[in-house]
Amino acid sequence: MPETPLWSATLNHLCLETAEPAPMREFYRDALGMTETGIGAGQWLLEAPGRRLLLTTGSTGALAYSGFAVSSDEKLVALREHVAAEGGEAADSPSPLLQQGAFAVRDPDGNTLCFGVERPATSTTQGETIDGRLQHVVVASPDLPAMMDYYQRVLGFLPSDHVLADDGAITAAFYRSDPEHHSFAAFRAEEKGFDHCAYETPSWNHIRDWADHLATFDIPIWWGPGRHGAGNNLFFMILDPDGNKVEFSAELEHMDSEHPVRHWPHDRRTLNLWGNAWMRS
Ligand SMILES: [Fe+2]
Repeated sequence: MPETPLWSATLNHLCLETAEPAPMREFYRDALGMTETGIGAGQWLLEAPGRRLLLTTGSTGALAYSGFAVSSDEKLVALREHVAAEGGEAADSPSPLLQQGAFAVRDPDGNTLCFGVERPATSTTQGETIDGRLQHVVVASPDLPAMMDYYQRVLGFLPSDHVLADDGAITAAFYRSDPEHHSFAAFRAEEKGFDHCAYETPSWNHIRDWADHLATFDIPIWWGPGRHGAGNNLFFMILDPDGNKVEFSAELEHMDSEHPVRHWPHDRRTLNLWGNAWMRS
């Protein structure tokens, strides 16, 4: 499959809604090592090298939007033209972290994605923090066929892996927008919504360092450690105070733009080669 105008976009930030901002802000400041800046009424920016998160007062567990960064204005214009040619509707971007000219779309489930050239980080983190850059976002969806068509045809994500049930129905679809195995994925589920996000680290030792660091805050591992089949990455997951799932990952597989989609069975080993799996459906 050839490169699309989306190539090589990267996930740059998320905006999460929360009904309880105080414990969420504390968690991302302390446990995730991010520096906080108030950016308006009920909105906070949390930053560390490679990871940026917006928190906004709202419904706990809701993903307000995802922000993807493209490398130039020319890329952005080409992407917007591609989206329009495929029938996608572009609106103004709500993200303060993207430069003028950024645009937003809504997928078939109503999730908002913003695309633009990133604004430079507004602050530098004080002190030591462990490497972990925001790398992928996953949503749950009751209508995977519509979502897959939108992400692949309209937005130009490239399919990396499909997970198939015994009846042939796709239960998970992993998409890349640069050589990393997935920057976005959608999992079949009864309810639509935010599934998890992941921070990619440079090595397995960083996974250990994150787990040790989180242990000092008495934050237990929720799932893992293990190695995903699809993506081949080492991982563990924790829960933030709102119950959002936060993944730490290393060794995520790379694929070039020509790599054909692969197929996996819908079973435990596809999600975790080492042990037990969290099966969404
Ligand atoms: Fe993940």
